Amino acid sequence: MKKRGVPPAHVAIIMDGNGRWAGGKFLPRVFGHRAGAETVRKIVRSAAECGVRFLTLYAFSSENWKRPEEEVGFLFNLFLGYMRKETAYLDKENVRVRFIGRIAELPAEVRTEMENTVKKTENNTGLTLILAVNYGSRNELADAMSAWTEKNPGAAITPEAISQALQTSQYPDPDLIIRTAGEKRLSNFLLWQAAYSEFYFTDTLWPDFDEKELCAALSDYSGRERKYGAVTA
Ligand code: FPP
Repeated sequence: MKKRGVPPAHVAIIMDGNGRWAGGKFLPRVFGHRAGAETVRKIVRSAAECGVRFLTLYAFSSENWKRPEEEVGFLFNLFLGYMRKETAYLDKENVRVRFIGRIAELPAEVRTEMENTVKKTENNTGLTLILAVNYGSRNELADAMSAWTEKNPGAAITPEAISQALQTSQYPDPDLIIRTAGEKRLSNFLLWQAAYSEFYFTDTLWPDFDEKELCAALSDYSGRERKYGAVTA
């Protein structure tokens, strides 16, 4: 059971509203993604300063391939630019970068840059930044179960076995899941891991999300009591 006042160790964010932010300014959608990448830079710094240990960001879902080819290409270029420009800073700040999702399906150039970033930051002991790219929770569960049953034929599947088989096995489950831009759904994000997560929804569009809003979410979380199905004393 968690008493009030304890900050979240793991925060996961569904970054939504880039397109609407751009539309509101009569700009093409990709301008919203570019502004969203700036918010990623700022929020990673703020989360580390606030003592968050794990930060998972939903950067590209397995369903996002349905977007126009130019938008998908723009997003991958943005990820490349982020990794190339930000890795040295993240390393200096003791941030360890990891990825979840079907990484093998990504363009080779993106995979190479991801490997560089992971390698460069692997010994860091501060915030762990987990970027979900080509990620879908149902795919993750299906892949994990296929691999597990192949390795353990005939064995009973337990909740612990499932948690251990997932790409997130080395990280705690998210304590707090934030979604921006007024939507209130999980959209195939960390379905298994979110069993006991707390949720924070805000109407703020991702490019406008800032340190103040992150602090508001963290402080809202700190005021909650988590019972995990037990009764309060
Ligand atoms: C959702 O907004 C956002 C995405 C699908 C992409 C997330 C990408 C970024 C925040 C930029 C770069 C990320 C990194 C890690 C550098 P939407 O386009 O669905 O917005 P809408 O619902 O208003 O159309």
